[in-house]
Amino acid sequence: MSKVDVLLGLQWGDEGKGKAVDFLAPKYDIVARFQGGPNAGHTLEFDGKKHVLHQIPSGIFHPEILNIIGNGVVIDPIVFAREIRDLEPFGVDATKTLVLSNKAQLILPTHKLLDKALELSKGEEKIGSTLRGIGPTYQDKIGRHGLRIGDIIEKDFDEKYQKLKKQHLSLLSALELEDDFIEQENQFFHSLELMRQFRIISTEYLIHESLKSGKDILAEGAQGTLLDIDFGSYPFVTSSNTTTAGACTGLGIAPNQINEVFGIFKAYCTRVGSGPFPTELFNQEGEQLRKLGNEFGATTGRPRRCGWLDIPALNYSCMLNGVTQLFMMKADVLSGVSPVKICESYNSDRGETSEFPYVYNDSYSPIFKEVPSWELDGILEYNNLPHNLKSFISSVEESVHVPITLISLGPDRKETVLKKS
Ligand code: IMP
Repeated sequence: MSKVDVLLGLQWGDEGKGKAVDFLAPKYDIVARFQGGPNAGHTLEFDGKKHVLHQIPSGIFHPEILNIIGNGVVIDPIVFAREIRDLEPFGVDATKTLVLSNKAQLILPTHKLLDKALELSKGEEKIGSTLRGIGPTYQDKIGRHGLRIGDIIEKDFDEKYQKLKKQHLSLLSALELEDDFIEQENQFFHSLELMRQFRIISTEYLIHESLKSGKDILAEGAQGTLLDIDFGSYPFVTSSNTTTAGACTGLGIAPNQINEVFGIFKAYCTRVGSGPFPTELFNQEGEQLRKLGNEFGATTGRPRRCGWLDIPALNYSCMLNGVTQLFMMKADVLSGVSPVKICESYNSDRGETSEFPYVYNDSYSPIFKEVPSWELDGILEYNNLPHNLKSFISSVEESVHVPITLISLGPDRKETVLKKS
């Protein structure tokens, strides 16, 4: 019986999961998404082209790999149809290599309206949601009145849709519907037609049968550990479990079926939307990181907040996920940046601490150490990496007690260095 490897983000999302999954994919028979939805934006670059996937697993460009959208995911049919169409020019026939869980939740056009209304009502305290309907859809799931993908092939789907839409509209009654709502609804139903052409099944059985027959599976996380609904900086989080535990519930696999956990982090930190960010830079250094790292949201285009690498946060994420290997992304962005800093602990009114705080407020401040910077010029062999970059790598490994086995030095598949642990 094979096991499942999990790959997930250890910061606030946007760590580079798309590239890492695409790079690892050839080793696997199946790539499966287990949570999140169109709020994600996984970027892949190869053959001089950039692709951004929101809901479709990042194994889709490999025709021999089966891709699964698991039960823990929330799916917007309109975004789904757009993504499928965008793949066609690249010769990807997703109807053959993509399977949908009948238990994944459906995002309705009214979920997106609710998302906007809820966010607006929060005023200054807004989460900075991507407004893709994620929160309200998960709310309906937990409230036990959501619609699932399996429902779209049932005879009474229209009835169920109208019932839920009516509930949503009564919640939204204070608001006027946006002018394009009818158009949105038309697109929604049109997109469902495309969705019905896919295999909509109990993917948990498919996963178990595949494991029994020795197939290798990679579970692809979305967002990041610090956006987890339980352990993230609540309430400034997403609405799903972004941790390894989420892979179990989001695909229907048992904890003892997990093998490797690949944790991805950037050599610095970024965050989109509101919420605490201990190492955030409000000065020229932050601006420089944003520019060098092209730190603008792949889904919303919003500028990302930038800061230095936060070791207490990374340690916390490794602990929650049982990370067995670390992948360090965007080490090239720090090339030539001087000085480079790492936050090793925080000062607080109770003294120095390495614990990630329940609430990060003004009583905390990060304690930084400066490390010498490095210059890179097209090196793609671990042994040839600059000494200072290797020291940076060792210093992180010593702090979190997990080996870094992959170092990404650019967006292209080829710009990847492997280090034997
Ligand atoms: P929501 O999940 O769209 O409601 O957004 C909740 C918070 O998570 C906001 O701060 C978003 O900016 C953030 N977020 C959601 N998805 C992603 C992602 O894929 N990358 C980075 N941040 C995300």
